[in-house]
Amino acid sequence: MTITPRKWWQDGVVYQIYPASFKDSNGDGIGDIPGIISELDYIRSIGVDIIWICPMYDSPQVDMGYDVRDYENVYPPYGTVQDMEILIAETHARGMRIILDLVVNHTSDQHKWFQESRSSKDSPKRDWYIWRPARYIDGVRKPPNNWLGNFGGSVWQWDDQTQEYYLHLFCPEQPDLNWENEDTRKAIYESAMEFWLERGVDGFRVDTVNMYSKGEMLDAPITDPRSEWQFAGYQYCNGPRMHEFLSEMNAVLEKYDAMTVGECPNTPDMGRVLKYVSAKEKQLNMVFQFDVVDIGQGPYKFQTTPFNWKLPQFKHAIETTQNLIRGNDGWTTVFLENHDQSRSISRFTSDAPEHRVAGGKLLSLMMAALSGTMFIYQGQELGMVNFPLEWSMDEYKDVDSTNYYAMVNERNGGDAEALAAAKAALQHLARDHARVPIPWSASSNAGFSTAKPWMRPNDDYNICNAKQQQSDKNSVLSYWKRMLQLRRHYSDLFVHGDFDLLDKQNLEIFAFTKTWQNRKALVLLNFTARQQELQLPPGAQNQKMELLVSTLDMPGGCLAAYEGRIYMLALD
Ligand code: NOJ
Repeated sequence: MTITPRKWWQDGVVYQIYPASFKDSNGDGIGDIPGIISELDYIRSIGVDIIWICPMYDSPQVDMGYDVRDYENVYPPYGTVQDMEILIAETHARGMRIILDLVVNHTSDQHKWFQESRSSKDSPKRDWYIWRPARYIDGVRKPPNNWLGNFGGSVWQWDDQTQEYYLHLFCPEQPDLNWENEDTRKAIYESAMEFWLERGVDGFRVDTVNMYSKGEMLDAPITDPRSEWQFAGYQYCNGPRMHEFLSEMNAVLEKYDAMTVGECPNTPDMGRVLKYVSAKEKQLNMVFQFDVVDIGQGPYKFQTTPFNWKLPQFKHAIETTQNLIRGNDGWTTVFLENHDQSRSISRFTSDAPEHRVAGGKLLSLMMAALSGTMFIYQGQELGMVNFPLEWSMDEYKDVDSTNYYAMVNERNGGDAEALAAAKAALQHLARDHARVPIPWSASSNAGFSTAKPWMRPNDDYNICNAKQQQSDKNSVLSYWKRMLQLRRHYSDLFVHGDFDLLDKQNLEIFAFTKTWQNRKALVLLNFTARQQELQLPPGAQNQKMELLVSTLDMPGGCLAAYEGRIYMLALD
């Protein structure tokens, strides 16, 4: 139960925008800021309160803008700082707020701070990044530890000029900033945060927020004997000075009443998560936990097969994030998609043409009933699905996908079976599926651009596009609008209520209740492609109830394939 008074970001619905793929206004095949401005009314019409813009900063785009060259400038194909000022003003004029992505665990290797840092060991900025000497094993030069990078390979890059390694938890072109250095932290606050807060942004989604404090950087245990580099996520996340750094950062943000949502991978310990999001700790307002989106990912990224999970795991993950706010002053988030995840219909329901719309509505109804700040990723409101297996590897543009495929190729000497398995995993889980252009209409290039888009639009844009769905009352888009209205109407119950899971082990139906004071709702979700008997789960039997909403116009006596329903229960 939420402790009052409520904050503006608790009931707000956030819509995430990936600039490269949202809308192109100037015919270069790449989305841009004026394109976003032109669709603000569309975004508002969904029922959204806050927009989140993925990195639009100047960048060489090795990792799609998560490698920032200059925090105080915009990537020229997206526009200018002035375009951003217009976007901020136009968003506010529509009664919405705007948050940006804050990427300050690392910069681009082209950022002037890193250029100075790497210029010599005596550079005043040498200590702004993390430099270490080599270690020599049997006379062979080796990096300082065996950590595996997030995109494969070692986290250390050798620098010939100064004869030391620098740390990069992501690509070699993304060197990690040294948060231990106070001057570095001050420069980050000024350049990356205050520059934009002064221009009116309302907060930040904070990239990889729990990696700033690295701890001792000892070797990671060997969990993958085939590799020289070992998973070290539990070592470089949540290091000893994390809370100190976040408190300091929050002191800057607080002055602007700025909202923060931190990305928090590798943190299964709920006590730790709570410390980040508890109001009295004054660190972050909320975080993205990875419990749900990690489902079916396998022990090592992509080393899995599609649908390698069971419904109780999904229920448990949702329960974990829901229970974070129970009986305390923390806050949580509700999301299934973002630019790092493939499409939720394809992952959690079915993207077969006959089930896709039902799956989209089912997930929309489920999310509408879950507590926390809700995040919708662009295209999710249209029921977009993954692109097909037939597309060649050339259509995968993400460094994570291409590095993985290259690694499998190398490790298996080009073995066709291994490569087919890698491609099947990528078709199910790659980040590329979230990054294709938004289908605005059935016209050429999906109405996204007058030129060939930087990524191929989904093949089905003639049947799945915003224009068509806006005029179709049965579309996934129309359903999202309805669900967001319903969520707003019953916000106590759905945004702030207590979540209780029913019939945990049921492999086909996900059932839960939400309770707020004398109101209680029962949510029933059929996660199968088969009709199911309408049986009330243990814990909800013998109660008077009234149907509030279904994903179907005319629900019958059974739960149809991928049907979802919410009933209001009469409390004694
Ligand atoms: C998380 C971002 O969401 C992802 O897209 C990026 O690759 C890494 N952090 C590195 O910044």
